[in-house]
Amino acid sequence: MRKESTAAAAIHHLVWPICLIGAKHRGKHNVMTVAWVTQVSVDPLLLVASISPTRYTHDMIVHSGEFMLSILTSEQKDISSFCGFRSGRDIDKIAHLRLKTVPASVIGVPRLADCLANLECKVVDRHLVGDHTLFVGEVVAADIAEQNLQPLLMCQGKTLKLAVN
Ligand SMILES: Cc1cc2nc3c(=O)[nH]c(=O)nc-3n(C[C@H](O)[C@H](O)[C@H](O)COP(=O)(O)O)c2cc1C
Repeated sequence: MRKESTAAAAIHHLVWPICLIGAKHRGKHNVMTVAWVTQVSVDPLLLVASISPTRYTHDMIVHSGEFMLSILTSEQKDISSFCGFRSGRDIDKIAHLRLKTVPASVIGVPRLADCLANLECKVVDRHLVGDHTLFVGEVVAADIAEQNLQPLLMCQGKTLKLAVN
């Protein structure tokens, strides 16, 4: 017999990839944690990130027209928590966490040196859907770590480890 679940409880069984979105505007670089991000096209290579207009990062992306998606490793949970609960309005998260950055190859937002991969994105479309903005980004350049790292994943508020077959 199946339990009658609430919509909120059911949707928390989705697996989230935990990433940082970086933006730079008027010389200020900021990062925030995102889970609601996915690929939506192969050619061109497009991804979508769902970001609340209340986030400081939101307007930085609107004004600059670009963002960096940095995929975190399974060892970077503390970074995701800090960047997901503190705002760039109040603190320089990159300096506080001593995140190493390297210049991007196409866009103005730096890459993060120690994450699993960086995807440089130019915004090609955006839509306000419900209480979030969907930013559609075209991936114009990317890098990936040389070591065999695992991504940081979450389900039901807990981090998961990939089972490798
Ligand atoms: C695990 C996790 C996932 C999150 N995913 C999203 C997301 O997909 N979209 C969003 O708008 N906020 C998301 N947040 C909340 C933002 O990261 C948070 O509000 C952050 O402080 C915003 O930073 P900013 O004000 O510097 O932009 C998430 C937070 C956590 C902890």
